[in-house]
Amino acid sequence: MFHALHALTATRAPDELFDTLIRAVMENSEASTAFLLLAEGGTLEIIAQGKVKNQRVNVRTNRQGTSFSELPESIVANVQRERVQVVLADAAEVSPFSNDPYLMKQHVRSVACLPMIGRGDFLGLVYLENDLQPGVFTQERVTLLNLLVAQAAISLENTRYCERLTKENERMNAVHGELVFQRNLLRTLAETFPHRIYAKDTETRFIFGNMAVAQGMGVSSPDDLLGKTDFGFYPEACAARYHREERAIMQSGQPLMHREEEVNYLLTNDVAWMLTTKVPLRDDDGKVVGIVGVNYDITERKRTEMELVSRNAQLLELNAKLSRAQAQLVQSEKLASIGQLAAGVAHEINNPVGFIFSNFTTLDGYLENLLTMLTAYEEAEHFIESQAMKDRLRALGETVDLPFLKEDIPVLMTETKDGIARVRKIVQALTEFSRVGGNVEWRFANLHQGIDATLNIINSEIKYKADVIKEYGQIPEIECLPSEINQVIMNLLVNAAHSIGEDRGKITIRTSVMRETVSIEISDNGCGIEKESLSRIFDPFYTTKPVGKGTGLGLSLSYGIVQKHRGTLEVESEVKQGTTFRLTLPVKQGRLQTGIADA
Ligand SMILES: Nc1ncnc2c1ncn2[C@@H]1O[C@H](COP(=O)(O)OP(=O)(O)OP(=O)(O)O)[C@@H](O)[C@H]1O
Ligand SMILES: [Mg+2]
Repeated sequence: MFHALHALTATRAPDELFDTLIRAVMENSEASTAFLLLAEGGTLEIIAQGKVKNQRVNVRTNRQGTSFSELPESIVANVQRERVQVVLADAAEVSPFSNDPYLMKQHVRSVACLPMIGRGDFLGLVYLENDLQPGVFTQERVTLLNLLVAQAAISLENTRYCERLTKENERMNAVHGELVFQRNLLRTLAETFPHRIYAKDTETRFIFGNMAVAQGMGVSSPDDLLGKTDFGFYPEACAARYHREERAIMQSGQPLMHREEEVNYLLTNDVAWMLTTKVPLRDDDGKVVGIVGVNYDITERKRTEMELVSRNAQLLELNAKLSRAQAQLVQSEKLASIGQLAAGVAHEINNPVGFIFSNFTTLDGYLENLLTMLTAYEEAEHFIESQAMKDRLRALGETVDLPFLKEDIPVLMTETKDGIARVRKIVQALTEFSRVGGNVEWRFANLHQGIDATLNIINSEIKYKADVIKEYGQIPEIECLPSEINQVIMNLLVNAAHSIGEDRGKITIRTSVMRETVSIEISDNGCGIEKESLSRIFDPFYTTKPVGKGTGLGLSLSYGIVQKHRGTLEVESEVKQGTTFRLTLPVKQGRLQTGIADA
């Protein structure tokens, strides 16, 4: 008996256990047949069967060849349902199971059917019978048998538990293997990936990072980042911004895609351009548990890009300079040739005008003398005695209308004198304006003379449109290229005249000196300049005038000339009120040694 108990405890393999159990119960009970049935998924299955043959117990643990027709089904069903044993001392006698077909047919005598209960669960049952003797299963034996069955139940449960554990273990091993693989994959990916990858928890603390991110942030290993936030690695305000932004990503579930920004790394003192992407990190249930970030270092690209932009700007600038220079060249060539022509013509006219003027003055004197003489002759008329002579003189006087002549001659002389004086003035102005050969030379020049000469030349543009008011201050001569400065003044004056509409306007020219600089202000009360145009008026070819009327080069050329003189050209304007251009020029350029004289 103890041997049997021990055997039941020791066995591990299920089939061995069933074999041992059948043998144990048969050897300890005089049963001629025994069955072990186990509940599997609610139904009972025959697991092992033992029979005594030639006084030996034969056990079959495979289920082949056994069927419920070899068992009293009603007893088996009862034990399964009630979970209590059924023992019949003599099945031939009347009992609740007398009608069982098997019992009636097989003439079985002693029957014992014992439930196998393990930790409260019904595991199965052991059925025993003796077909020859009644009363084989005494109470004492049944107790013993129950003990064996209970021990078998424990062993069975242990075996099953072990099986389950083994399976679970195998599963865990497989899971572990998969996890190790995944982890290695992740690590390899992260380390091979040349960009910075990291993950953070809901408190924005690092929970993962690759070597690239560690090195970039100035620590020797990704482990040094774990559990830390961005504070200490980036400037305070920047770290706070990252924290806010990552919290927002976690709350909204909306990723941050491809943001370009310049980043300052405190530990390495590096400044780099980063392309940043941050996406929410989710668990199996889709709940956001952190963020994953990827940073691409785009410093090199950015540098190239910025270089390109600045190169482009330089090119544009160069291009603008080139077209300005070209336009200036064209314009100054044009002006130079006009100047040459004008100077030539002026020179040619100058001589005749000179002697016309001087002759005219003489002529004026002669005429005056003649008129005096005429008056004397008129007075002498009364003393002429010849009536015929008197009549002739009167008739002649009436024919030529002497009183009118006496009245008109001085008027004509004055007008003509004025005309000649004006011609002289214009010729002088032309010479002054265009000084052949002098227009490329720096010299000290009187600006007032230049302004007056210019006014004379463009008189026709102005005189019908505006009154010119001169408010000249006491200014010194300045070192300049006079003909170029005259061009600037001319352009400003013509623009001013053009700005004046139907009504007669006013152009004021004001000059003043301030320390080492001289200012010329040209104000008009014309149409003014729109705000949007103000920034463009100095651009070459910018004009609001109709095609053919303006080239849009005037101000841009003027600006170039003023720059060459290291001066400034500023503008103030109010629409419908008027415009003031202020030209400021240094008195000295430092090109000439002497020559400063007061105006
Ligand atoms: N005094 C002003 N009042 C109003 N607008 C002005 C004045 N001066 C310049 N502008 C504006 O600036 C533009 C550019 O002037 P700019 O002298 O460069 O060219 P333009 O006079 O149009 O042509 P160009 O001088 O070649 O004949 C003018 O078309 C005009 O719109
Ligand atoms: Mg102009």
